[in-house]
Amino acid sequence: MRRTARQVLEANDRGDHTVASPHVYPYQWLWDSGFIALGWATIDGARAWRELETVLRGQAPDGFVPHVLAHRAPGRRFPDPDLWGRPGDPATSGITQPPVLASVALRLLEHARGAGAQSRRQGEAAALRLWPSLMAFHRWLHRERDPLGLGLVVSVHPWETGMDDSPAWDSPLAAVAPRAGPGPPELPGPTADRPGAAAYPRYLGLVDELRAAGYQSSALAVRGSFRVADAGTNAVMARADADLALLGRRLGAGTGDIEEAQGWARRSAEALSTLWDDDAGHFLSHDLVTGRALRPATSASFLGLWSGAASPSQVQRLAAHVEGWARGWHPVPSSDPEAASFDPRGFWRGSVWVNVNWMIAQGLGEHGEGALAQRMAADSRALLQGAGMREHFHARSGEGLGATDFSWTAALARWWLGME
Ligand code: GLC
Repeated sequence: MRRTARQVLEANDRGDHTVASPHVYPYQWLWDSGFIALGWATIDGARAWRELETVLRGQAPDGFVPHVLAHRAPGRRFPDPDLWGRPGDPATSGITQPPVLASVALRLLEHARGAGAQSRRQGEAAALRLWPSLMAFHRWLHRERDPLGLGLVVSVHPWETGMDDSPAWDSPLAAVAPRAGPGPPELPGPTADRPGAAAYPRYLGLVDELRAAGYQSSALAVRGSFRVADAGTNAVMARADADLALLGRRLGAGTGDIEEAQGWARRSAEALSTLWDDDAGHFLSHDLVTGRALRPATSASFLGLWSGAASPSQVQRLAAHVEGWARGWHPVPSSDPEAASFDPRGFWRGSVWVNVNWMIAQGLGEHGEGALAQRMAADSRALLQGAGMREHFHARSGEGLGATDFSWTAALARWWLGME
C-alpha cells in the first residue's frame, strides 16, 4: 500500500502540479491540491509547497482562486476549460472550492519544522511567499462572498462545495433554470457512481448565469438563482481563518494582517453556529434563496468537528451521529443513511470519501474523541486495502467507485493512514 500510494502520486505528478486523476480529472483542482500537498510532504517537502504555489498561480488580481486550473489541455474532458469562458494561462474555471489551503500551509510548516533546520528554513520561506496570496483569497471570500455581512460564505454553484451531487442541493438546484439544447456531454466511466446526468442541464444553466454576470460574485451572492450557505464550506472556512491567523503568528507576519485574520476567525466561528439545528443535532446548510435549512444532513455537517468552532455539546451530538451512521455502514457515509435519497454508492449521496473522513477524524481527535477517530482511520485504511486508491467507496460493501488512481486518496493514505 505504501508503494501504491507513492506510485499514484508520482504517476499523477506533472512537475509543478498533480492531476486529480489521470483519466477522469486531468487538471489541477483547488481543494484536491491541498490534500495532495500533504501527501507530497511525506516524500519531498519542496514539492509539497510547489503544489500550493502552482494552484495559487490561478489567483485573479482581486484574490479569487478558481476551482480548476487547466495547465495543459490534454484532449477534451468535461468540464473542459472552454465552458467557463476564462481563457488565460492557465485557463481556469470561474468558481471556487472549499478554502483548505491555509490549513494545509500551517500543517506543512509544522511538518517542515519537525524535519530539521534546512526543511524548516525552506518551509518558512515558502509559507512567507504564499502568505499574501492566502490573505488575498480569504479577503476575497469574506468580501465578495459575504456581501450581506452574515459572516457566512455563500456558494453559488454546487461544484463550489466540493460535494457536487449532495442531496442537500436537490431542492435549491431544482429552482435553477436548466440550459436548453443538447444534453450533458459524454462522461467517462460508469454512470452509477458518477454525478447524475439529470442534474447536468441545471449545472450548465447555472454556469451560463454566472458567465453572463461576468462572475461578479458579490452580485450573484445576493441575486443568483443558486445561493447556499454550505455547512461544509463554512466549517472549512472557520478552521482556515483560525489556521491563517496562527500561520501569520508563526511567520511573524504584519500585525495588521494577523488581526484581520483573527477577526475573520471570530466571525466565521460565530456565524457557523447559526447553521446549527438543535432538533437535528447537526449543522445544516441553508438555502439563502428561500431562507430554509437544507435536508438531509450530510457529511458536511460533521465538518463542524473540524471547524474548531463547535461547542462541547455539539461535539457530543455529532460524535453520536458518526457512531449511529457507522452502524451497518462504513464511516462516514456522505449523507444520512436514514434519508430517502440515501444511496450507498451514489456520488456524494451516500458513498464514503477519504478527504472528508480525514477532517472529521482530525476534529474528533482534537475534541477528545480519539477512539472514534482511530476507528475511522482503521476503517478508511481497510477500504483502501480492499479497493485501492479510488475516488470514493461504497458505504456498505466498501467497493471502490469512480476514478482510479485518485490523488487525494493516495496522498491521505500517506499523510493520515500511515502508508508512507
Ligand atoms: C469531483 C468532486 C470534487 C473534486 C473533483 C476533482 O468534482 O466532487 O470534490 O474536487 O471531482 O477531484
